[in-house]
Amino acid sequence: MRTDTTPIVRLEDYRPSDFLIDHLELDVRLHPTQTRVVATLRMRPNPEGRPDAPLVLDGDELNLKAVSLDGRILTGEEFDASPQSLKIAQAPRQPFTLTIETEIDPTANTKLMGLYRSGGNYCTQCEAEGFRRITYFLDRPDILSVYTTRIEAERSEAPVLLGNGNPVESGPVEGTDRHYAVWHDPHPKPSYLFALVGGSLGRVGKTFTTMSGRKVELAVYVEPGKEDRADYALDALERSMRWDERVFGREYDLDVFNIVAVSDFNMGAMENKGLNIFNDKYVLASPETATDQDYANIEAIIAHEYFHNWSGNRVTCRDWFQLCLKEGLTVFRDQEFSSDERSRPVHRIAEVKTLRARQFLEDASPLAHPVRPSQYREINNFYTATVYEKGAEIVRMLKTIIGDDDFRRGMDLYFDRCDGTAATVEDFLAAFTDVTGRDLTQFARWYEQSGTPRVAVKGHYDEAAQTYRLDFTQNTPPTPGQPTKEAMAIPVALGLVSHDGSPLGAACDRVDARGVFLFDEPADSITFTNVPALPVPSLFRGFSAPVKLSLDLPNEELLVLLRHDTDSFNRWQAAQTVAMRLLAALSTGAQKLDEEIDAFSEALCAFMDSDALADPAFAALVLTLPSEADVAQDIGKDVDPDAIHRARTDMRRRIGKASSQRLHGLYEALAVSGSYSPDAESAGRRSLRNACLDLLAAADRSMGETLAVTQFETASNMTDRLASLSVLTTLPGAAREETLSRFGERYRNEPLVLDKWFALQAAIPEDGTLERVTRLMEHPGFSIANPNRVRSLIGSFAMLNQVQFNRTDGAGYRFLASIVLRADALNPQLAARLLTAFSTWRMMEGTRRRHAEEALQSIAQKPNLSRDVGDIVSRTLD
Ligand code: ARG
Ligand code: ZN
Repeated sequence: MRTDTTPIVRLEDYRPSDFLIDHLELDVRLHPTQTRVVATLRMRPNPEGRPDAPLVLDGDELNLKAVSLDGRILTGEEFDASPQSLKIAQAPRQPFTLTIETEIDPTANTKLMGLYRSGGNYCTQCEAEGFRRITYFLDRPDILSVYTTRIEAERSEAPVLLGNGNPVESGPVEGTDRHYAVWHDPHPKPSYLFALVGGSLGRVGKTFTTMSGRKVELAVYVEPGKEDRADYALDALERSMRWDERVFGREYDLDVFNIVAVSDFNMGAMENKGLNIFNDKYVLASPETATDQDYANIEAIIAHEYFHNWSGNRVTCRDWFQLCLKEGLTVFRDQEFSSDERSRPVHRIAEVKTLRARQFLEDASPLAHPVRPSQYREINNFYTATVYEKGAEIVRMLKTIIGDDDFRRGMDLYFDRCDGTAATVEDFLAAFTDVTGRDLTQFARWYEQSGTPRVAVKGHYDEAAQTYRLDFTQNTPPTPGQPTKEAMAIPVALGLVSHDGSPLGAACDRVDARGVFLFDEPADSITFTNVPALPVPSLFRGFSAPVKLSLDLPNEELLVLLRHDTDSFNRWQAAQTVAMRLLAALSTGAQKLDEEIDAFSEALCAFMDSDALADPAFAALVLTLPSEADVAQDIGKDVDPDAIHRARTDMRRRIGKASSQRLHGLYEALAVSGSYSPDAESAGRRSLRNACLDLLAAADRSMGETLAVTQFETASNMTDRLASLSVLTTLPGAAREETLSRFGERYRNEPLVLDKWFALQAAIPEDGTLERVTRLMEHPGFSIANPNRVRSLIGSFAMLNQVQFNRTDGAGYRFLASIVLRADALNPQLAARLLTAFSTWRMMEGTRRRHAEEALQSIAQKPNLSRDVGDIVSRTLD
């Protein structure tokens, strides 16, 4: 086993900085390989710091040219500089000005942290610790400074120069071909929110008037020629700004708001003050190139980054352990926005699907960690589903427990009280304690305790007494560093449903007016009175807590919920639970399930007859079986992905056969004519139609092939074209290969569309896919240096292709290990992300487990691993 020697950073070791930086003036002269940065820091000792501490500034791969203190150039004896730090032992004990000149090479920066080049443009990414790759600094989020940035560049190379805050002045640099722009951001901010952009960019814009009547110039910058693909992002920005005013009372606070799309980006996007920088995948959209899902993602991420202006920027984090303070809260806010803009129940189901697929998986893996971790080796490895998605669930539970009005009052208090500060999770909870008078100590365990709680519930009906009792127990499995767990405060939104759907007059005094029972003991029971007949309990309505529920109800009773529950989430959940039971049983060798599968198919048929056309988006979700990865997670140990794949294919075939007439009818009825619109309702019709196509093709491959090829040829938008191609990938043969190559040809100059093509092929669950992926790596559109390309081709293979990544001969694992090592030399964050595909290795059956362990060891034994990869590999093997 590898013992990682990189130092551990611990929450308990936090102490305030010894120095403060009130103001920073940056002068950046852009050059492809020799960019000069002059930083002028107005500093003073921190009254809360240690009185005699030396000044130690962070750096990362920096090349120091000169340093002066209060205007005097320092000699070599007065400081100690390395690429990683700049130390001044005898710093003044009163305010002083430090001027530092560094030279950096943006072209050589393949890590995509700090200042780098993407498609010929200059851009930055500073969160979490990228600012120290631009200049020496106190690069920690509790150092808040006012920034003035002067950017200078060759006019032909970078006609557009953007910075944080408001534009102050711009003009030519006399006697040269260069020009400059000065930006000033009046809001003190941490260095991770710094950004600049220089390049040749097209622009779309509009004026926004805030709720208090101020005018703000909004703009989205993209590759020239793609301006028409930026309209949807601009529209989403405007809607986000309006929504935050209406729902949270939050107004924007600068004269401009700029968004720039770049094609090389490690994550989704970044909320730099007044200058958001985006992965272009989350900006660019046209009916020809983007799917309905792309439009929905763009809307959500534009909103997310905008909402950070309050939850993240105006109130930032004291240290990186508090990352969920801004991320969990902001995900919650963007989820609420999307729910308001689209269908709330449909969106909730989508959120929960992601939570289970990513966060529950993480929580059950060697990489499990609390929403607020207490230690890390590399902070970039903690931008996780747990911090983001489970972090959002905690905020949602808080709202469920205290109610909408108190939640809004608590948010207002939090924003007002913490505005302009670097805050903690404790500050957040204190606001809600103060408005409600509630003790949230036990609730706070959600931030500290990792692992997904399991809640088991048993129902008991007493006919004579006309009562119905529910017995609850909870426990949370051990996770790394946390062998034993305490009881959590779990809000259970619930109700009882009668077998025929007629309303019940049942009552229970443990359930509040909003229908919520707070389950906060290891075990508890609640009793409903006035229950005239055996009911079906509908538990965790709307998925009121991120737990795994086990409820021993027979399938027939669960299917009562699909038909009659008033809660849409639980209608969907009922169908999923039954499907999961059947898939897990089939995958682990059960033979005689014919009756159960028939009964399930019948329930789906009845559902299609009554509900499909009324809410197509919801119906599409009901008709989609749990994924192979979901089933693997449910089984949890000695997993055989081949058996799961066979079981799921068989179930799709049987459901498709049992309902083929209805599916056909729906497929015809849902055909949309007229021009494409990405709105939720039209998207819902397309998603149901394509779900029908998938089941039809599973039932009858030749009919499926004919329908899919026709749809491919006649499709008027990317959603339908890609869906038909995706169905074809399940049908090996000449039609598939022919259609794939036409698609690849048609979009050979559209990198974001080629990504979809890479991803589909990498997910083909057949022998030969690894060879196909290897071949596609030679495609002119592929590049190991571009994160979107790598995630589409390699990431899809490793994360979505259960059978081929987990090949019994271990070739999938060895392949991923070799790519991780290649990527690590260029971009450690990207490599570490890919490596997390191994986090399920202990769940696999023995042969696969041994191969996976060998592949992981082969990585662990390499010298010179990045801290990112070293950290993930050692935790995965632990
Ligand atoms: N704050 C960004 C967001 O969620 C994520 C940036 C993370 N970047 C990184 N290199 N870890 O909106
Ligand atoms: Zn965020």
